[in-house]
Parts: sequence; structure tokens; C-alpha cells
Amino acid sequence: MRIIKFGIIGAGLMGREFASACARWCHLTKMNVRPELVAVCDRNPVIYPWYRDNFPAIRQFTDDYHELLANPEIEAVYCAVPHNLHREIYCAIINAGKHMLGEKPFGIDKEANDAILRCCMEHPKILVRCSSEFPFYPAMQRIGRMIEEDFFGQVIEVNSGFLHSSDLNPEKMINWKRMIEFNGEYGCMGDLGMHPCHFPFRAGYIPKNVRAILSKLVDKRPDKDGNMVPCLTWDNATLLCESEDPLHGGIFPLTIKTQRIAPGETDTWYFEIKGMKGCAKWSSKNPRRLELLEYKGSDQAVQQIDMGYESTFPTITGGIFEFGFTDSILQMWASFLTELAEGKTVSRFASCVTPKETALSHRLFTAALRSWKNTSTETV
Ligand SMILES: NC(=O)c1ccc[n+]([C@@H]2O[C@H](COP(=O)([O-])OP(=O)(O)OC[C@H]3O[C@@H](n4cnc5c(N)ncnc54)[C@H](O)[C@@H]3O)[C@@H](O)[C@H]2O)c1
Repeated sequence: MRIIKFGIIGAGLMGREFASACARWCHLTKMNVRPELVAVCDRNPVIYPWYRDNFPAIRQFTDDYHELLANPEIEAVYCAVPHNLHREIYCAIINAGKHMLGEKPFGIDKEANDAILRCCMEHPKILVRCSSEFPFYPAMQRIGRMIEEDFFGQVIEVNSGFLHSSDLNPEKMINWKRMIEFNGEYGCMGDLGMHPCHFPFRAGYIPKNVRAILSKLVDKRPDKDGNMVPCLTWDNATLLCESEDPLHGGIFPLTIKTQRIAPGETDTWYFEIKGMKGCAKWSSKNPRRLELLEYKGSDQAVQQIDMGYESTFPTITGGIFEFGFTDSILQMWASFLTELAEGKTVSRFASCVTPKETALSHRLFTAALRSWKNTSTETV
């Protein structure tokens, strides 16, 4: 078993998800590699006790990421910090020769993303990937295999989105994800956009152009002292793109929706493909349910399949049981570590977002900002 010693930079919400996945590595049954968490860096010391209590192997706690990167023991880093810090810290990690899984959007804007990609190109031996876990759900892995087998025929349309309602309450206190200086001009697109882009991009559904509709629904929120302060980020975005069908040719509409104010949606990631031979639809709202339609010239019968725990990386969980968010995080990490240890991915759809795919998402989101400003269709 190869052990990869990891450090976390940014140990908040997502840092803890990674730490928990490390602690649950025994869930995976056929891995030749495992992570060991040895260092944590965060500016907020309130976070440390949870790590101290649960991870006795952590030998380094620091509020200075330079100290963590100077630790020769550390081979790889998970970085989950606010978007304004992505450029500086991701580049420092790569320049320090550490492998990295970084969080989306991989730079607060296109300029920052360009800089991160330049660093990647200067260090081709360092594995750099971006986090996105939803495609690891069993139903999405099944749809990926069906795309490879050309089950759907010529594509008619594809709809992909990530909707949640965490900002529905206008009284909710503002945090960094609602401030342009930390989250970026993209607003909800930067925050949520990589999730609905990952799967279509991997399928080769590349947006050629975009017409965007962006909404700011709540323009002021209380701060920690109860004062109302400006909330300037985009809450919701609908991107209508033209994409080319890579297998059959022809143009089809691809919609990518990201909404932080979507009543009725707690945390819904969905994907739908309609083709001339078949259709498929899946949503994390009902994660077991995969809807399929195979058209053979007669009835258009929709099948509903109850997916079990059909994971790409085998686990101890029985095949009939349910798969959830934390399982998708564990599978994503299994994919990253497998790629790191073996130099290749297990399959096209069971692998993490590449830096080039993040660059495409930045081209899409900057074109979307132009489109909304000019009421125009913009080339991506
Ligand atoms: N993959 C997903 O499903 C998912 C979900 C939520 C957030 N994210 C992404 O993860 C990243 C972090 O989001 P989060 O929700 O974990 O945020 P968070 O606010 O919970 O955590 C960020 C942490 O970074 C720390 N930090 C700030 N400046 C630092 C510095 N200079 N050095 C070290 N630590 C510093 C903060 O103290 C905080 O603990 C973002 O890029 C976000 O878009 C991904």
C-alpha cells in the first residue's frame, strides 16, 4: 500500500470533508494507495480542535501556508480557500512541487486561472486537478458509459445544473461567498458553475457561444452586527449555449444553470440528455432514480431504475444500499489518488476535472458576463 502524506490548506467546510474521507479510507476495498493527513493550515484556530481530536497523526498545525509547503514530508495538498486566494496559494503549492487537488473555480477570474494554468505547464510532473464530486454518483457513471457506447444517438439537447436555496432567506447573514472581493464577479457561476460543467465538458459537449441571463435577487444582507450591507454577487445564472455533437456532428442547445435562490431545491445537481435514440435524466434530489428512455420506433417508454451502490471504486457497502454525498467525495478522492499513484485514470467519467477544463469554464463564465452586459450572444 502506497501512502501519500497530505496537508490541507483551508480547513473549513470542505477541508473537513477531505479529512473525513481520509478517516473512512477503509471503506474502499481494492485500493493500492491511501492518504495520510499530516498537516493542517488555516487562519482560523477555532477549527483546530476538531482535527486534533480526530486525527492524532497530524503533526503540523500552522496559520502560514508557506510553513506547510516547506514540510518535506508532504507529497500532496488539498486546498479549499476562498476564491480570492486561489491564484496565490495554488501557484505556491505547484511551485513547491506538491501534487494538488484544488477547489473550484480554480481562480477568482480568468486572469487568475490563466496564471494557475501557466504554473501547471511549468510543472508537468505535478498532478493538478480540480474538485467536483457529483459525476461519481452511480447513475452518472452509468450515463457516462452510455455516452461512450453511443446509446443516445444524435444529441437533441443537454441540460445540466446546480440549484440550491441556501440564499433564499433574505435575512441570512452575509459571508465571503456573497462578496465580490472574495467570491469574484462570476458570483453563483464561480461558486457553483464547475459542478454542472464537469460532466458535459468531459462528454465533449463544448460550448461554442453563450447567451446568459443573470439575476441579483437580494441586494443587501445583514452583517455579523446586524447592519444591512451590499450583497453584490449574482444569485442565479442561466446559460444557453450552442454545442457541437462530437459523435454525430450538428449543433444542439446546452443549458447550464446555477442558482443560489431556487425555492424547493436544497442542493440539487441534475443532468439530462435527450438524443434521437435515447434519453437519460438524473438528479441528486432523488439520487437512486435513473430515468431512461430507449426509442426503437414504437412506444416512448420511460424506465425508472433504482440504482444501488454501484460505485466505480469498490467498497464494503452492499450493492442494494444507498449512495450519498460523502460517498461521492470518497470516490472522487479514490480517483485522484489512483491517478497520482498509477499515472492514469480508471475511466473517462470517473476522473477529476483537469486544469484545461477549468480554463474552459472560465472562458464560459467571462463570456456569460459579457453576454449579460451587452444583451448579446458571445463566443466562448
Ligand atoms: N466541492 C464542493 O462541493 C464544494 C462545496 C463548498 C465549497 N467548495 C469550494 O471550496 C473552497 C472553500 O470553500 P469552503 O466552503 O470550504 O469555505 P470555508 O469558509 O468553510 O473554508 C475556507 C477556509 O479557508 C481558511 N482560510 C482563509 N484564508 C486562509 C489563508 N490565507 N490560509 C489558510 N487558510 C485560510 C478560512 O479560515 C476557512 O476555514 C472554495 O473554493 C469553494 O468554492 C467546494
